[in-house]
Amino acid sequence: MTLHTYRTDGAGLPLVLLHGFPLDHRMWDAVAALVPGERPVLAVDLPGTPADAETLPEPSIEASADRVAAELRSAGLDRAVVAGLSMGGYVVLALLERHPELVAGAGLLDTKSTADTDDARANRLRIADEAEQSGTVAPVRPMSTGLLGETSRTSRPELVDELAGWIEHQRPEGIAWSQRAMAARPDRTDVLRRFTGPVLVLVGDEDTVTPVAAAEHMAAAVPQAALVVVPHAGHMSALEQPAAVADALGELAQRTDTEASTTA
Ligand code: MLT
Repeated sequence: MTLHTYRTDGAGLPLVLLHGFPLDHRMWDAVAALVPGERPVLAVDLPGTPADAETLPEPSIEASADRVAAELRSAGLDRAVVAGLSMGGYVVLALLERHPELVAGAGLLDTKSTADTDDARANRLRIADEAEQSGTVAPVRPMSTGLLGETSRTSRPELVDELAGWIEHQRPEGIAWSQRAMAARPDRTDVLRRFTGPVLVLVGDEDTVTPVAAAEHMAAAVPQAALVVVPHAGHMSALEQPAAVADALGELAQRTDTEASTTA
């Protein structure tokens, strides 16, 4: 796993970004350049991504969270605003459960706190097997369109191409690992309910993978959550509408700074 640093300067709490599947930190490039305020901004490449040279453990979102925690600690970060999109959001919830002291504020973007249905789990395991057996990313190639909202799919072919390029660059064994890890994750709505720090729940209004109802379910679990529905964005809100996502993350980080300074 590796920590990718976008910005190092600023007195605010660091903002740490966790990517979705089947992607890596590059999906945050546009957002990271636009986050308002003065603070370090970093992204983690999760297990199985091209930049990750470590041996893969047994697949689990808990293992991803433990590695993120170890990576942050070894970089000297013991408290941060942590935001994840989709699979990255599953890792944020596992961090809240296993390493709560690291998370001062949480961003849950185009994700859900519930476990998979039996059908979704079976589909993930099938894709994992296919990626492994074929030694290719073929089973996830259709995601270059499937992750985008209708507006982007029909009017922004450059986003489809960008996603396709990133997907093509992934490791088949990493795809298999992540699918098995996501398939095994439990419902963490209660973990979220127990978190008392600032929370942002954000979703694209055209997200069909983790729709607005999934975001409303999470926001209902935490009264302090800000719920932001981004217009003209699908599951890849950070790619489709980076300015809106950067503003929402900036507000979350600012709210977390304020809370940290009043409780210090
Ligand atoms: C993602 O964007 O990380 C994936 O769509 C997550 C998932 O398959 O649940």
